[in-house]
Amino acid sequence: MPHPAVDLLAARHAAVRAAAAMEGLDGLVVFHLPNIRYLTGFAGSAAIAILTRDEIILITDGRYVTEVEETVRPGCPGLRLVKVDPAYDATLAACLEAAGAIRVGFESAHLSVKRHDALAAALRNASAGGGSAAALVPAERLVEACRMRKDAAELAALRRGGALIDAIAAAVLGDVRAGQSEWEVAAGIDDRIRRGGFERASFETIVASGPNAALPHARPGRRVLQPGDLVVLDFGGVCEGYCTDITRTVSVGEPSAEARGLYEAVAAAHRAAAAAVRPGAPITDVDEAARAVLEARGLGTAFSHATGHGLGLEVHEEPRVGPRRPDIPGVPPAGRDDRLEPGIVFTIEPGAYVPGLGGVRIEDDVLVTPDGLEWLTGARRELRVV
Ligand code: GLY
Ligand code: MN
Repeated sequence: MPHPAVDLLAARHAAVRAAAAMEGLDGLVVFHLPNIRYLTGFAGSAAIAILTRDEIILITDGRYVTEVEETVRPGCPGLRLVKVDPAYDATLAACLEAAGAIRVGFESAHLSVKRHDALAAALRNASAGGGSAAALVPAERLVEACRMRKDAAELAALRRGGALIDAIAAAVLGDVRAGQSEWEVAAGIDDRIRRGGFERASFETIVASGPNAALPHARPGRRVLQPGDLVVLDFGGVCEGYCTDITRTVSVGEPSAEARGLYEAVAAAHRAAAAAVRPGAPITDVDEAARAVLEARGLGTAFSHATGHGLGLEVHEEPRVGPRRPDIPGVPPAGRDDRLEPGIVFTIEPGAYVPGLGGVRIEDDVLVTPDGLEWLTGARRELRVV
């Protein structure tokens, strides 16, 4: 993956430092690997980062030291590499002891109780021994909130990924045939994703045919595609670290009037959701627009998931593009105050699932712009009969 430009990483550090300062924190311990990647460019499988007022400490082990020295540190302002010795949490405790009496947030959503208790005990012991170790304070969403608005490097990767997955979607729709098993279709999609320039699939490819299409997240199996099936194909690839996510539904042979009606209803919900996207609009508007279309056609209960989700370094990230959930604290959008802003990237993926008949989902990735939206994916959406 190309390293984000130094000035972009500096801007990310500044934004997270400002968010931490608003919480009365002098720094943040970052455990969540996508957050570490966002702040440093490090894409390995194990690390802890500590963002302080004047540096970012990257703790990693011997497998990654050379990579960090050669490719991460040169592009990351203020990065200090600390090699694990003898174990991750002991090294973290030593860094926090050395930091002095500062208040440091830690990502409480990403640290187990067991690890937290051991870390807190180590810091207490250090203080009892006459030291002035950092105080740990639970913190939430400091990096995730910044990650919602994509910067120039992220948008470039997302646009490249969108163009690549569109081309793959077009090819995949030409591949699907009656007589193939769901496994075969999924293997063909995965092969195209790898050969098409992606690092890997964004998630396990979904191919759901006939009655299985009524299960929104069915796993592909041995079922063979048959005339009269609706087939939901949901897949994506990771391009330069950034996820794409697209769904198309095809009909094997001519669809029944009921199946075509289901498709048209979901397509109308998709259009309505897209029409609701504009900066300043409550995020819940997008879900409400899609849901209203399906409810008006008697398909409200058949739409059993949110309209979309944020997309970026993770395939599911903030914001949640669903109904208002004031009952779940900390899950945005909790109310009508969470609004779309330019730079937010998310999926629009209404669906309708009817046991016995099957299901339809149509999914695309969009960017909120100052005027409305930019489609990051846009492979043809008309019902394809294969
Ligand atoms: N497209 C897969 C998902 O959103 O979970
Ligand atoms: Mn999705």
